[in-house]
Amino acid sequence: MTTVEIIENGNAIALASGGQMYRFHAIWLRDNAWDAETRAPGNGQRLIALRDIPADTRISVARVNEDKIRIRFTPEEREIDYDIRWLFDHAYDQVKSTNSGWISDEIEIWDSGISDRIPMADFEEVKADRAALSQWLGGVARHGFGKLTGGPVEEGALFQVADLFGYVRETNYGRHFEVRTEVNPTNLAYTGLGLQAHTDNPYRDPVPSVQILYCLENSAAGGENMVVDGFACAQRLREEDPEGFALLSRYCARFEYAGEDGVCLRARRPMIELAPDGELIGVRFNNRSAAAITDVPYEHMEGYYDAYRRLGEIIDDPAMEVTFKLSPGECFIVNNTRVLHARKGYSGEGSRWLQGCYADMDGLRSTHAALVQELGLAAE
Ligand code: FE2
Repeated sequence: MTTVEIIENGNAIALASGGQMYRFHAIWLRDNAWDAETRAPGNGQRLIALRDIPADTRISVARVNEDKIRIRFTPEEREIDYDIRWLFDHAYDQVKSTNSGWISDEIEIWDSGISDRIPMADFEEVKADRAALSQWLGGVARHGFGKLTGGPVEEGALFQVADLFGYVRETNYGRHFEVRTEVNPTNLAYTGLGLQAHTDNPYRDPVPSVQILYCLENSAAGGENMVVDGFACAQRLREEDPEGFALLSRYCARFEYAGEDGVCLRARRPMIELAPDGELIGVRFNNRSAAAITDVPYEHMEGYYDAYRRLGEIIDDPAMEVTFKLSPGECFIVNNTRVLHARKGYSGEGSRWLQGCYADMDGLRSTHAALVQELGLAAE
């Protein structure tokens, strides 16, 4: 049983159903009308601007008609039907988290305990089966990380992975980059240096939000890849040291890369990025491209460095990491605004050849959402 009541002299309605009650403002309802004069029937794009809606818009009549509610607006004297389910799905009259660093319920943070829940799939299967692709992309969107196995062992195969959901982001490093090392067979003590976990290219604005690393050879001892959920690390810092978390989110760091002729990339962004309402939306962490930090006031700089150090220690904590060794034809993908990646040191004879490229999360989320709609699936 759904009931509707006009409140605040027509400034809003109160809609009640199944024990829930939400209020909706007249101006919000009018702006979100779905009639053919407000929204294009084909692509759903809004045909009017806010300036076309009178500022003194009020509701004069509201009545329930099965699964719809009909609303009459003055002074336009226009009647519009709204789907009650749609209204409940888009209700804004509810208490939302205002904690600094809250995390969307569309994502799930993880640590080393995730191992058996890593979004994994077979390349040929996700290529051929749209439901399997949807499930894998949903897992990547939720966890910021995923693996594919069983792909072709050929140069450029990583582009086929990007083609599954979006488009390669070309940069000054090219359409892709090579991560290739021949371990010196005459010196078995040679050790390829490990790299601290990092996000890639924080000196870009915007940063590439997806990285794909695809393995073509990996016969050296060691050389495992490792990923860390930067959001889980940021949450841990917030729990341990709320003031340190606040410093890393309130002040911008600076990042720079000018390592080749004609390139001077710079960005000024926080290591922990929050939306204006406090949602945790990004992590940037990269010791190699960190530039001098000049945006933190003198009295906060030491505290800032303490928090920066502690965030690094949390990132380095084995309890936060997932480690795996890629075989030829396998790849992994990360949300580069959230999940850090690293390479362990390697030694002994053999070779290691990975190819990497960038893409973007908006394309991945778009493909996933479209597949969910197309297949009538529940979102992952
Ligand atoms: Fe990297």
